Amino acid sequence: MDVLSLKRYVDARARHADARRLEDLLDRIIPRPALHARFVNTLARMEYVGVRKMLKSRRAERLDLDGLQHLLDEAVHALRLKKAATALGAASAARVTTFSDADTLAGDAGEAYFQALDRRAEVALAALEGNDRAEANYLLTSAAIEVRAQSFYPIYEQRLRAHGAPFSVSAITKDEDRHLEEMSQRLQLVLGDERLGLEAVLAEEELLYGRFLAEAEAAVGASLSLGLSLSLSKEPRRAVGG
Ligand SMILES: [Fe+2]
Ligand SMILES: [Fe+2]
Repeated sequence: MDVLSLKRYVDARARHADARRLEDLLDRIIPRPALHARFVNTLARMEYVGVRKMLKSRRAERLDLDGLQHLLDEAVHALRLKKAATALGAASAARVTTFSDADTLAGDAGEAYFQALDRRAEVALAALEGNDRAEANYLLTSAAIEVRAQSFYPIYEQRLRAHGAPFSVSAITKDEDRHLEEMSQRLQLVLGDERLGLEAVLAEEELLYGRFLAEAEAAVGASLSLGLSLSLSKEPRRAVGG
């Protein structure tokens, strides 16, 4: 069997219609700092949920230096994004204090994406026992998320530059690239040649991500039409026939 490379899946996602859809969404969000602040806060929340999942699923006897570094990297991503969201929020009077749905943009949908992916991995790994299953679940869900991160952040970085945004996510992309390589190697060892559940979990991730994008699109649409109706209601009425 060939050496497992998750990069192949990143390339496939770059050609998927959702890549274009993400660009369109970002081009509506980035020029509007209040919306952007909440969106970046959603990304921070998702990085945080990733950390929480790792803390819960990784047992001490399995945790090595790379594992600890991975945990810390994701916490740093959450912190960096939170700081960027806070700066954007301060400049636009948007509240991004907590990770609640109101302080994020489709934040609950983002967390639901994670939970659903986790459940799908549980189903795929039902044949494994106890500790092995927890570790395999960590690897499978992390692999799917790292593949997504490596298709998401480069597009986001490119749109940030195109709009002259005041921050960059290129340092996050570098970490995610390293994580993807680690996941490729460990999955090969833990899941064996048949790569138990990998294709199923990656296919499900594509579906769940599409659902998350739809929720984010709906939240952007709702907030833009609310902004439009507020600005129309402030416009002075013209005299009929005047
Ligand atoms: Fe991350
Ligand atoms: Fe990562």
